[in-house]
Amino acid sequence: MDMLKITGLYKHFGDKEVLKGLDLTVPEGSIFGFIGKNGAGKTTTMKTVLGLLKADSGEIEVAGERVVYGQTATNRYIGYLPDVPEFYSFMNASEYLAFCGEITGMDRAEIAARSSELLELVGLQNEKHRIRGFSRGMKQRLGIAQALLNRPRLLICDEPTSALDPVGRKEILDILLAVRKQTTVLFSTHILSDVERICTDVALLGEGNISIEGKLSDIKTGYRRDEYTILTESRSDSEILCDTFSGITCDDQGILHFSESSHAHVEILRFICDRNISILKIERTEPTLESLFMEVIDK
Ligand SMILES: Nc1ncnc2c1ncn2[C@@H]1O[C@H](COP(=O)(O)OP(=O)(O)OP(=O)(O)O)[C@@H](O)[C@H]1O
Ligand SMILES: [Mg+2]
Repeated sequence: MDMLKITGLYKHFGDKEVLKGLDLTVPEGSIFGFIGKNGAGKTTTMKTVLGLLKADSGEIEVAGERVVYGQTATNRYIGYLPDVPEFYSFMNASEYLAFCGEITGMDRAEIAARSSELLELVGLQNEKHRIRGFSRGMKQRLGIAQALLNRPRLLICDEPTSALDPVGRKEILDILLAVRKQTTVLFSTHILSDVERICTDVALLGEGNISIEGKLSDIKTGYRRDEYTILTESRSDSEILCDTFSGITCDDQGILHFSESSHAHVEILRFICDRNISILKIERTEPTLESLFMEVIDK
């Protein structure tokens, strides 16, 4: 089942067309990376899904139910962490979760049980200080706990790692991985390595619509261009290979690169065997998300 389905979404602000027929499908159980550069329209898309912004046209369904602007019915399925979360800074973490639980109608016992479970999940179980003194990373982690309070089927996080250092980013990514068993996760980002680390599915938003979408593994396979790297034990052997095969290039670290289109790899392997060349590594290289997206953007 699709947890979120967006079809033909258009949205403009003044004379600026931000979304131009955006289609997006988030499968249930996925960790979905919604990628786009600054100003691409990620936040606009998310706010429209939450019924907070009115689309010019298009359809949105959350868990099979239609989203209607200004109505919040479908938001019972959603937990949301905005790009800049706001807190009552005089509260501590458990007071804040209790407050959020109360205003959404949870009973006290449920709030206590769920809060302690979530504070443990986000590593704030022993944190007694007021939110005022929290680091950015701690605030993001508390924001995720708040978004998960009502056991949403879809967790939407708007750039949860963008303002964080590598340690803080890893903590957030680990939490998103851990909650995958409980909920589908959709998060926006422009940090491609974060997506490569945890996402099952990705979509790239550029020029108002989606230019690539699908399972990360399928996308990588689809764009694989039979490129190989070889590392020989001795530099002189790599020079021999470069001199013999015109399509082989050698980089600064002495690693050889070639593509199947210039030489069949079996031809090179046969040469290596015939000459008894000692190999440390041979690898068929996967495209990185970065190389792949640069290629798509450049088209
Ligand atoms: N309320 C608004 N009024 C006018 N223009 C807006 C409004 N909200 C967004 N925009 C414009 O729409 C475009 C998309 O904005 P949006 O915030 O959705 O992008 P984004 O992908 O979330 O970017 P970022 O990575 O910077 O968060 C931008 O050009 C922005 O200036
Ligand atoms: Mg944004």
